[in-house]
Amino acid sequence: MKIVILGAGGRLGAALLRDYRDKFEVAGFNHAQLELADVDGVRTKLRSTDFDVLINAAAFTNVDLCETQRDLAFLINSEAPRVLAKICQDKGAKLIHFSTDYVFDGVKREPYTESDSANPISIYGESKRAGEENILAVGDRHLVVRVSWIFGPDRPSFIDAIIKRAQENEQVDAVADKFSAPTYARDVAEMLPSFFARAAVGGGGDSGHKAARDYGGILHFTNAGECSWQEYAQWALDCCQELGVSVQARTVSALKLKDMKNWVARRPVYSVLSSGNYAQLTGVSPRTWREAVSDYIRRFYSKK
Ligand SMILES: NC(=O)c1ccc[n+]([C@@H]2O[C@H](COP(=O)([O-])OP(=O)(O)OC[C@H]3O[C@@H](n4cnc5c(N)ncnc54)[C@H](OP(=O)(O)O)[C@@H]3O)[C@@H](O)[C@H]2O)c1
Repeated sequence: MKIVILGAGGRLGAALLRDYRDKFEVAGFNHAQLELADVDGVRTKLRSTDFDVLINAAAFTNVDLCETQRDLAFLINSEAPRVLAKICQDKGAKLIHFSTDYVFDGVKREPYTESDSANPISIYGESKRAGEENILAVGDRHLVVRVSWIFGPDRPSFIDAIIKRAQENEQVDAVADKFSAPTYARDVAEMLPSFFARAAVGGGGDSGHKAARDYGGILHFTNAGECSWQEYAQWALDCCQELGVSVQARTVSALKLKDMKNWVARRPVYSVLSSGNYAQLTGVSPRTWREAVSDYIRRFYSKK
């Protein structure tokens, strides 16, 4: 099984590349090595590269910047994925593409399933939704994996910012009225191979269940449970204390979404994704976000 990963320098792409190095024949392209905005360059490079599975973890992910760079957001997050899907289709390869909980408007109050209607409220969300549609219009055996609140060691995210602030300050705060589910990049790396297969022939993978290998379309995957940013931050600080990671701040006070004056883009208030379909397809339930966060802090912050 030959795998190519785009966005190999990003938070998720780097985690996938590291995890798959020992298990598959894998190559990664970072931003400097492959520019998604240059679709002709993408065609040239990928048509001459041999692979069974193409994983696209590259995207224009700055939600606020997307608001003022609409054309670029659509080029990278929507048009480039269409081109990737077409290249894969022509080669008989499977495209696995990452999308986001931000395709939803956030008005629901229970986890979103794959059959819920998308209704993005930001340019980022719109461009990512258009990317999903473009891919699935090319071939329904490609896989679009929606994730949320990714954290991992390869690029700092919310959790790292909170720990740093708690190390430098006696008080920290976080938004208490916005809800999703943190997702460990390592857990995404572990779940994905069940879905590896050659798109043209189907069932050609050597790992996981046939139902997963044959699955195409949209799939939600996050660590189990849900929380606000305040609860996420509080749990991170609780883990630090438990695991002997020195922090000054012990409790996280509440901010309101309306206090986030610097945000340009609208963000969904509630964007928890249900991994029920994933669990049914694979027979595996994701571990809880609390377990995943604790594991991350133990591995990358604690000397215990
Ligand atoms: N992080 C989250 O919480 C989250 C939540 C939901 C969904 N997702 C989705 O998950 C996927 C991975 O996200 P991530 O957290 O790993 O994001 P990330 O750390 O920002 O990584 C994205 C990667 O894409 C690269 N990139 C940006 N523009 C590019 C372009 N024009 N051509 C080629 N490469 C380009 C970036 O390179 P440079 O940094 O060098 O520009 C970076 O390496 C994305 O599809 C994202 O939409 C993420």
